[in-house]
Amino acid sequence: MAKTLLVTGSSGLIGSEVCSYFARELGYTVHGVDNNQRAVFFGPPGDTRWNQRRLEGALRGFQHHELDIRDRAGVLGLMRSLRPDAIVHTAAQPSHDRAASIPFDDFDTNAAGTLNMLEAARQACPQSPFVHMSTNKVYGDGPNRIALRELATRWDYADPAYAEGIPEGFPVDQSTHSLFGASKLAADVIAQEYGRYFGMPTCCLRGGCLTGPNHSGVELHGFLSYLVRCNLEGREYRVMGYKGKQVRDNIHSLDVARFIAAFIGAPRAGEVYNLGGGRANSVSILEAFTIAESLTGKAQVHSYLEQNRVGDHICYFSDLRKVRSHFPSWDITLSVTETMRQIVDSWRARSSV
Ligand SMILES: NC(=O)c1ccc[n+]([C@@H]2O[C@H](COP(=O)([O-])OP(=O)(O)OC[C@H]3O[C@@H](n4cnc5c(N)ncnc54)[C@H](O)[C@@H]3O)[C@@H](O)[C@H]2O)c1
Repeated sequence: MAKTLLVTGSSGLIGSEVCSYFARELGYTVHGVDNNQRAVFFGPPGDTRWNQRRLEGALRGFQHHELDIRDRAGVLGLMRSLRPDAIVHTAAQPSHDRAASIPFDDFDTNAAGTLNMLEAARQACPQSPFVHMSTNKVYGDGPNRIALRELATRWDYADPAYAEGIPEGFPVDQSTHSLFGASKLAADVIAQEYGRYFGMPTCCLRGGCLTGPNHSGVELHGFLSYLVRCNLEGREYRVMGYKGKQVRDNIHSLDVARFIAAFIGAPRAGEVYNLGGGRANSVSILEAFTIAESLTGKAQVHSYLEQNRVGDHICYFSDLRKVRSHFPSWDITLSVTETMRQIVDSWRARSSV
C-alpha cells in the first residue's frame, strides 16, 4: 500500500512542490491542508487557489483539506483519521513586514499552529518523521554584526569564519527578529523539543530564500518571484536600503523537496539544518536585476529607499556543510539563473505578460 504524506500549506510554494515530488517521484498518497490564508495576508496577488487546482488536476490521489492549522480540534481530528507516514509542515504567515500589523494572527499561525501540528502528531503518529519549515530569521539581525566588505555589486563577509556562510550554531537571541522571526523561533524551538523531549523524528529547516516557479510572489514576501514579476510587467521594484547590495541565498523549491525526502528517508530526532542556496546560489538585488534583464530583455524599473526593512539581513547565505555531511547524496541541483528562467516562464504562463 502507498505511504501517506500530510502537507500543510500545500497550495504554497514549498508545500506544492513537496506534494508533487512525493506523489510523482516517490508514489506517496498526498493529503494537503491549506485554507488560502495567503490571500488574506497579502490580498488577491497572494491567492494560491490556482496552485491548489493545479495539484488537484495533476496529482493522482491528491486530496485537499480546507482546514486552518489554528483549528486545534480540526488538526487533531485529521491527524487521527490519516495517521500519515510523514508530515511536512509549511503553512505559515511568512512575511516579517506583514507580521507587525497582524501580531496575533502571525503568532497564532506560526507558533500555536505548529504546536497544534506537533501535538496532534504526537498523539496520532509519533513515529512519523515531522519536517518543520523554519527560517533564517530565527537568527534575527545577528548576522548583521559580522564584519562585511563592500564589493561592486554586493556585500560579503569579511570575517573568514563565515566564508562558508552562517552555521546552525549561530546565536538566536538578543537580536531583532521582527515579530515574524520571533513567532518562527518559538515554532522552531517547540519542534526541536518534540524531538529532544519526546524523541520524535522532527527537524527544522531554517530556510534562506526559498523560491521557484510556483510562488505567488508579493512585495512583502517572495524576493525573486516578485522581482521577476515587476520586471515582466514594467512595474517599479522598490529597493529598501543597503544600496541594493544585500545578499540572499536562493534555493529552488525542488531542491528543498529533495532534501525533505532525504530526511524522511533517514530521519533523526530534534535536528536543525540551515537550508538555502549557499554561497554559490547567492545574489544581491542588483545582481538579480541583471539576471532578470538578461532573461527577459526588459530593463528593470526600480527606485531606492534609504530606509532598510527592520531586521533585514545585509548579507546572508547558509553554511551547507551540515546538510551535506548528514545527507551526502543531496546537493543543490538548480542554479539561480536556471531558477529565475523558470520563474519568468511561470509568470508568463500565468499572466500572459
Ligand atoms: N519562501 C521563502 O523565501 C522562505 C524562506 C524561509 C522560510 N520559509 C518558510 O517556509 C514555509 C513555506 O513558505 P512558502 O514560501 O511556501 O510560503 P507560502 O505563503 O507560499 O505558502 C504557505 C501556505 O500556507 C497557507 N496557510 C497560511 N496560513 C494557514 C493556516 N492558518 N491554515 C492553513 N494554511 C495556511 C497559505 O495559504 C499558503 O498557501 C513557511 O513556513 C515559511 O516561513 C520560506
